[in-house]
Amino acid sequence: MRDADAVAERAAARVIATLRSAEATTLGLATGTTMAPLYARLVAAYRAGEISFRTACSFNLDEYAGVAPDSPGSFHAYMRKHLFAFTDIEPDRTHIPDGTARDITSEAARYEALIAAAGGIDLQLLGIGANGHIGFNEPGSDFASRTREVKLDEATRLGNAGNFPDSALAPERAITMGIATILEARSILLIATGREKAAAMAAAIDGPMSPACPASALRLHGDVHILCDEAAASALASRPGDGIRRRA
Ligand code: GLP
Repeated sequence: MRDADAVAERAAARVIATLRSAEATTLGLATGTTMAPLYARLVAAYRAGEISFRTACSFNLDEYAGVAPDSPGSFHAYMRKHLFAFTDIEPDRTHIPDGTARDITSEAARYEALIAAAGGIDLQLLGIGANGHIGFNEPGSDFASRTREVKLDEATRLGNAGNFPDSALAPERAITMGIATILEARSILLIATGREKAAAMAAAIDGPMSPACPASALRLHGDVHILCDEAAASALASRPGDGIRRRA
């Protein structure tokens, strides 16, 4: 697709259609700069009366370990700032792993149980890290991994440092849905924009299916849509038109 705006527009249309298609929808949400224009469009659609989140439920992919929900660098804060504060989504139906949990292993199990109790995720939104990560599943993550505590790569900590005003690096650890957890979503929508994602997209789509590129695991799923702008698609072996739609 032409640019990041076109990607956000098409992705928003997909989320809007999903929200309208059922009485209650369970969304899997992601954070990051790529997602912000998509959320802005969802807020605009809500304000225009086109959609409501009243009966929706959400599960975020990840959160930094040791970062409190009210800390500005947290993904809790990101979600409030970009989506939750401006829509009618019920706060008690939004879920984000608790990075401050004393026992992250129990928190991870609790999170998995909550997703299961909600009947699973209908549509999982995903971005991709420049190193091919999805959620915070860094290279080397097992495709069978579930929600757990992880150590972040130096490059990821550097790339996300901007959310932590006084720090050169984002926190060292996080809690993330696992790759197997992500693959259980009924449908997945991955969006990628910018040249810095080109190598990761090429590895995910054209490279070997391997934990070296966690996003390559998405090829195991039967209902994944990938939307890239031209820059993010620039290293792909083939470029089918203005969007890429492949079945696993
Ligand atoms: C983050 C998140 C991912 C996100 C990715 C890309 O750290 N944990 O869920 O998709 O890295 O982020 P960005 O869109 O800012 O490039």
